[in-house]
Amino acid sequence: DTLWREIQSGNISTLQELETFRIKYLGSKGVVKELFGELKNVPNDQKKDVGQLLNTFRTQAEAFYEECKERLSAASAVHSKLDYSRPGNAEPVGSRHPLSLVRSEIIGIFSRIGYTVSEGPEIEDDWHNFSALNFPPEHPARDMQDTFFVEKGEQEMALRTHTSSVQVRVMESSTPPIRTISPGRVYRNEAISARAHCFFHQVEGLYIDKNVSFADLKQTLLYFAKELFGENAVIRMRPSYFPFTEPSAEVDVSCTICNSKGCNVCKYTGWLEILGCGMVDPNVLEASGIDSTVYSGFAFGMGIERISQLKYKVNDLRLYSENDVRFLRQFTSEF
Ligand code: PHE
Repeated sequence: DTLWREIQSGNISTLQELETFRIKYLGSKGVVKELFGELKNVPNDQKKDVGQLLNTFRTQAEAFYEECKERLSAASAVHSKLDYSRPGNAEPVGSRHPLSLVRSEIIGIFSRIGYTVSEGPEIEDDWHNFSALNFPPEHPARDMQDTFFVEKGEQEMALRTHTSSVQVRVMESSTPPIRTISPGRVYRNEAISARAHCFFHQVEGLYIDKNVSFADLKQTLLYFAKELFGENAVIRMRPSYFPFTEPSAEVDVSCTICNSKGCNVCKYTGWLEILGCGMVDPNVLEASGIDSTVYSGFAFGMGIERISQLKYKVNDLRLYSENDVRFLRQFTSEF
């Protein structure tokens, strides 16, 4: 019995191990032969029983040997049928989302001229989303940004309507010079359609130092437009209004912009709006503890969806969040 257990517990997984097993138990100097040799020393009246026992043992050991042999040679036959020169099965790999592509491209463009990236919370208090940005209480400018309000304990909070809130946090926690962009998701209470969504993504930028002028702003944005849309891009600025900048402007880029996917054609004016900007209002600097008699700065903000729409000719905002692989697959070849 002990021997039998020893045999079965022996882990035979190669033909070599099997051969070692054969020599040890079944070979001409093996255990089985040896035991049969001992038979002559067994008292006559027990010879019959012991002999029978040994026979059973030998049969079992031989059967075990055959069984292993079959198993192992079947395995090695499969092995030799493998054709290692056949091409492998392609694993499907995902592609990057068009909004991620555009976001990284924008981050790349600004980091090359020394901008850092800052992030902040999506659930914001009134101070960081509005008050510190010079939105007076009850002022209609707050309605410009159809806000989602949320209760957080006692406090009324808002889903941030822009990432300008992040810039307030940066101004509060650091001293100029400041050069940073804040990419992130923002929320506005709008009905979902091809042209509007209740959330979208922005990159906003902030530059604060001594003697920063509107010319610096314009040149920075021209550099940005050329990097993003190509050397031919031209920008124009139209006067606008934001509570946190004075003066404020909206920036259009010319339609002569071309990339590997073709050229943009705009039907009516020859210009496409891409962002809002302006010189940071002194009230905003003061609210965050920056001396507006020493420092000045500019800020700008753009929607990533909008830029991505211009670059890739996407005509429906909903495509960005529907996760339809037929849409997403089209971006596999991008970096
Ligand atoms: N925060 C503005 C928006 O969300 C964009 C902006 C940023 C405009 C900075 C001017 C300066 O629409």
